[in-house]
Amino acid sequence: MSIRFRGGTTVPTKPKKTGISTPTVDSELFDCAKRACKNSYAPYSRFRVGAAVRAASGKIYTGTNVENIAYPLGTCAEAGAIAAARVAEGGNLVLVDVAVYAEAGDAQHVPCTPCGGCRQRILEFGKNVRVQFFGTDLCCHEVTSGDLLPFSFEFDSKAEQ
Ligand code: THU
Repeated sequence: MSIRFRGGTTVPTKPKKTGISTPTVDSELFDCAKRACKNSYAPYSRFRVGAAVRAASGKIYTGTNVENIAYPLGTCAEAGAIAAARVAEGGNLVLVDVAVYAEAGDAQHVPCTPCGGCRQRILEFGKNVRVQFFGTDLCCHEVTSGDLLPFSFEFDSKAEQ
């Protein structure tokens, strides 16, 4: 099975498996992520990433990676998208879907699973967020935010000091 994006690119999808699957590629979300990726600032890694998040309101927000000559200051695409969503939605923000898309050189649909930090960022706004990305098998995968980061960091912030 394969999915055709608006841009004309055809990408394979992986048949449903335990834990990780791709029943339907969210092409609306990936198109947004792909557009965001065009504005990536990645002169150091040359790895351009676009992320798109859909909130419970149905609205879509995007972000891209923005690197810095002081390397650790660079930010991930997912972080930008989540910040944009929070600015627009404030305390109502609940994430429902996330798509992560990457390009390197002339290659499109380059494998890019959300990094560990971004898994925790996504989890902050929903334990059951549907996250789609391209794996190293070049297929699009889908997994929930909870499954993407087992043993995520948590603490009882209301506990007495
Ligand atoms: N990157 C993201 O934007 N999101 C991820 O989840 C993984 C990595 C970016 C950070 C850096 O600018 C480039 O990809 C290479 O690591």
